[in-house]
Amino acid sequence: MTPTTARGPAAVVSAVGSALPPDVVSNNDLTARLDTTDEWIRSRTGITRRHIAGADQSTADLAVRAAAQALTNSEPEYVDALVVATTTPDRCCPATAPAVATRLRLTGIPAYDLAAGCTGFLYALATSAGLIAAGTARTVLVVGADRLASLPHPEDRTTVPLFGDGAGAVVLRQGCEGEPGALGPMVLGSDGTGADLIRAARPGALHMDGADVFRHAVDRMSAASRQAATAAGWDLADVDRLVPHQANSRITSFVARQLGVPEGRQLSNVAEVGNTGAASIPLLLARAFADGRLKPGHRTLLTAFGAGLTWGAVALTWPDLSRTRLPEGAGHDR
Ligand code: UT7
Repeated sequence: MTPTTARGPAAVVSAVGSALPPDVVSNNDLTARLDTTDEWIRSRTGITRRHIAGADQSTADLAVRAAAQALTNSEPEYVDALVVATTTPDRCCPATAPAVATRLRLTGIPAYDLAAGCTGFLYALATSAGLIAAGTARTVLVVGADRLASLPHPEDRTTVPLFGDGAGAVVLRQGCEGEPGALGPMVLGSDGTGADLIRAARPGALHMDGADVFRHAVDRMSAASRQAATAAGWDLADVDRLVPHQANSRITSFVARQLGVPEGRQLSNVAEVGNTGAASIPLLLARAFADGRLKPGHRTLLTAFGAGLTWGAVALTWPDLSRTRLPEGAGHDR
């Protein structure tokens, strides 16, 4: 699609937050129950471990923890809307977001879920920026939360190793175009002809055509990133930090190579968390902010790809969040 820019006030990132379930499953743990090896998983995906939610931890629980951390970090005077991007809502009906809002003592504000696979967080940023541009909201809490580890069949070695659970959140406030943290032009897209490539009729029934998904992911994230950078007036050589959806380190390395972004400018945490779906980008932002890999002034390009097929990208200059307290535990509330 043609990159779009909201025509009212800009949406500005003013805080980040994150949450991971405490239980960690290593590749070696998986070898005890699946016909796989640590070497196979690491060499094909870059993943060494992932956090897995127990039966007592819902998507809403993770979303509340990440959102609460973002709110604590920015202490906005008001929150006008809440969006939860997720592919794994706790129930088909009702949506997860109203319960999350109520648990955050935000009962009464508009709150809705948004499903766009692993691109969900970028779609949620775009719709939230639209609410701010239209004057419908001044501050929006945007959460990506998923329990993707619940989707594969527990005995499917081709998908179980790939996924983990978690949530990340950002606070978007009304601001001015071009100021640090302001979301730049949005590139979003979808292609339903690829709907069967990643599909799950219910938890435990995930089907993924890995090789095809791999190819589409590289092509779509590269193209969207290029468009977003151009629309923002950036040369790709000027990108300081590439923040790709953490699907798999081979995919993200290919994207970086296609864009000509040096490997060292690409942020990654897939080794520790696996593919966490809509939580992937905000989890990585929170982590990289906490450990200093993401600094004020960094020209930052976010890009994602997921089931649908869906994809997107957005450029922003990373803001100074120094008033924000660093999340505990090296970047994640646990
Ligand atoms: O948000 C997007 C989400 N999707 C993704 O990120 C997935 C994108 N795709 C991929 O990352 C890769 O396609 C995979 C990591 C899923 C698979 O890597 P691949 O290099 O495409 O492997 P493959 O599917 O072609 O399988 C190669 C072999 C097969 O054996 P045969 O048929 O050659 O004998 C598989 O059965 O590897 C086998 N295999 C495994 N072996 C050990 C598949 N999974 C495993 C495993 N351990 N866990």
